Amino acid sequence: MKKILLIGAEAMPFAATGGLGDVLGSLPTSLCEAGGDEVDVRVVLPLYGAISATWREQMTLVVEYEVCLSWRRQYCGVYRLYKDGVTYYFIDNEYYFNRDTLYGCFDDGERFAFFCKAAIDMLGVIGFYPDIIHAHDWQAALSLIYLDRKYRQIEGYESIKTIFTIHNIEYQGKYDFWILGDVFELSDADRSIVEYDGCINLMKGAIVCANRVSTVSPRYAEEIRSAEYAHGLHPILEENSYKLCGILNGIDYEYYNPEKDTAIKKNYTWQSLSSKYENKKALQEELGLPIRSDVPMLSIISRLASHKGLDLISEIVYNVMREQDVQLVILGKGESRYETFFVGLQEAFPNKVRALITYDRELSKRIYAASDIFLMPSKSEPCGLSQMIASRYGAIPVTRETGGLYDSIKPYWEDKGTIHGNGFTFANYRSEELEDRTNAAIELWRSEEKRNKLIVRIMQTDFSWKASALQYLETYASL
Ligand code: GLC
Repeated sequence: MKKILLIGAEAMPFAATGGLGDVLGSLPTSLCEAGGDEVDVRVVLPLYGAISATWREQMTLVVEYEVCLSWRRQYCGVYRLYKDGVTYYFIDNEYYFNRDTLYGCFDDGERFAFFCKAAIDMLGVIGFYPDIIHAHDWQAALSLIYLDRKYRQIEGYESIKTIFTIHNIEYQGKYDFWILGDVFELSDADRSIVEYDGCINLMKGAIVCANRVSTVSPRYAEEIRSAEYAHGLHPILEENSYKLCGILNGIDYEYYNPEKDTAIKKNYTWQSLSSKYENKKALQEELGLPIRSDVPMLSIISRLASHKGLDLISEIVYNVMREQDVQLVILGKGESRYETFFVGLQEAFPNKVRALITYDRELSKRIYAASDIFLMPSKSEPCGLSQMIASRYGAIPVTRETGGLYDSIKPYWEDKGTIHGNGFTFANYRSEELEDRTNAAIELWRSEEKRNKLIVRIMQTDFSWKASALQYLETYASL
């Protein structure tokens, strides 16, 4: 039996802020389903204050020990919970994790150094030595660095193979040099592993130490070897390209399922599309928009960050709203300039636009179910899950051909009645291209026959974890 340990900073349904949480929420179960009796999948997470009592009641305290981090001696409790075939371990230390937010604290470096050290220590304490450690993003990077630099001589740790997954190369875990010994407990001999470009860079260290490096789509795996996408790390990825691969994420097909979703007004499948329109009516009612079935509803559900392509949207959206009979719903929060922009847009078009400056998973599902067209023109997108969720709920995606968007959404065209592709896409990061494709999607939507044919095709596209979980298992096996 292959023993696999995933280490990461967030996972649904326990605590999540973004796509990483979705992936660590659904990948472990999918690995179990794909691997059957051949795999033992376990996950290590911090025990955040935000994790609800309902989950805590299901946890058992397994061990308590002291974690050393330079001169610090910190309490660590390990709680265990079984769910859908997966064993979850939660690292407890209230000083580090019982806070209002998951990240964004002044001492994140120390918090996640503690988390990583505690996770690697735990293996010896509980006597579980995995075949594979699969660490995710910079918050888990030190687990692989510690393993390589401090634990390899210890019995049980010698032959563990490692894989590091980059979910977004923009966030690398960069620190001043002083942190090396005082917090990270790394010596001058370790310095060359984590030093990069005038600072300590944890993602770089993990790339160097890992046996394999993966990212969340094949296209992004190519892109991050170039300066345009790598936020400075391209030379490191180029050097390590022999261990780099891209595996496209899937989405949780149980959680995102318009046929059974209890968060939406009316359930539907590609065979009952008329029921989808009930959801549009319900959302129009909820948001106080004119109740009309003949007007396409566009939506944007996104963190309001610039790499999501919001500057392109802001360049075209006044035109589109003026010229087209459409409605637009925006859900998300982030940079204040975009929040202000969308609130202003709603004021300019009170009968057409709703800007919901918040983060709300249930509401997002009602919007996916109601939408006809989903805009996601990202400047860069490691994988992107929203375009897959939108597709699952039958909204036509309009995307830019980058990263996982390129791998998941192919341009629509029709030839002698046969449909190709599953959305509207454009290559260059230019507002004219976005505007052109958005208008094309609106035009197609206005033909009921064409629209239905395309939506059926979109809803039938497989974005489940099945194929990708198998690819991960193959990657583990190759190690
Ligand atoms: C990050 C990326 C996103 C990806 C997600 C899960 O949030 O920005 O593109 O889908 O991680 O891998």
